[in-house]
Amino acid sequence: MAKITAGVGVSHVPAIGVAMDTGITGQPYWQPVFEGFKFSRAWMKANKPDVIVLVYNDHCTAFSAECIPTFALGCAAEFAPADEGWGPRPVPVLKGHQKLASHIAQSVILDEFDLTIMNAMEVDHGATVPLSVMFGDMEAGDEWPCMVIPVCVNVVQYPPPTGNRCYNLGKAIRRAIDSYPEDLEVMVFGTGGMSHQLQAERAGLINEAWDTRFLDLFTQDPVAGSQIPHVEYMREAGSEGIEMVMWHVMRGALDDDVTEVHRHYHVPASNTAVGHIILENKT
Ligand code: DHB
Ligand code: FE
Repeated sequence: MAKITAGVGVSHVPAIGVAMDTGITGQPYWQPVFEGFKFSRAWMKANKPDVIVLVYNDHCTAFSAECIPTFALGCAAEFAPADEGWGPRPVPVLKGHQKLASHIAQSVILDEFDLTIMNAMEVDHGATVPLSVMFGDMEAGDEWPCMVIPVCVNVVQYPPPTGNRCYNLGKAIRRAIDSYPEDLEVMVFGTGGMSHQLQAERAGLINEAWDTRFLDLFTQDPVAGSQIPHVEYMREAGSEGIEMVMWHVMRGALDDDVTEVHRHYHVPASNTAVGHIILENKT
């Protein structure tokens, strides 16, 4: 049977991808950001999954303002990196696992959790940066070490889903994966955040105390974490701090009781705080 082995929470700040793509990760500004991911890359090598379910948000790249699905499941065979204005990132095309994605669609939708089915989609930094961070440098001709099923969440236009809804989607994805008959090891990534205010008077807002409490709750009391209201993310972590609701999809897909094997928090990266956590299922 398929099983979920672990969850990864990680920021997807585009400048992190640019730093890797332009070979400046050793510069003083970036060195401490990447230092905190050294463990993560070794851990990924030692625990390489067959498939990653990658929960991220599209930043008006695949979806224009004309169509904004709350939850969209990538069912295509491939997902190419999108051109976000500077050409596509020089990283491999993501290879989907179509059989598992179809199974997730059937299981989750018949579990009364409606998803938009994407049979063609390009992916932006929200999806490619977390993969780069966790796998390290890749050439355009390489293949990512595992297959990826992207799951997009709307956090771009009001109203985004609640943390509770995201947490329950994670539980539905867990039921889908637990009922897939092939032996597969699956990881779930939740991306975005952390403190994140990209515009206007409060641009650059950083609230380390709140971010730390989020990470603590996330490990120790995920149900309480999932109940954080939208207005609290906005007030405490900035308007784009709302991206953190996506982490609850990952947390919902894990056991209630998990082992936190790694945490990394650093300011600054661009205008934001980089946050990262690795949680392993005990079962
Ligand atoms: C930045 C962060 C994001 O998550 C994003 O989607 C775009 C920009 C930033 O910090 O610059
Ligand atoms: Fe973002």
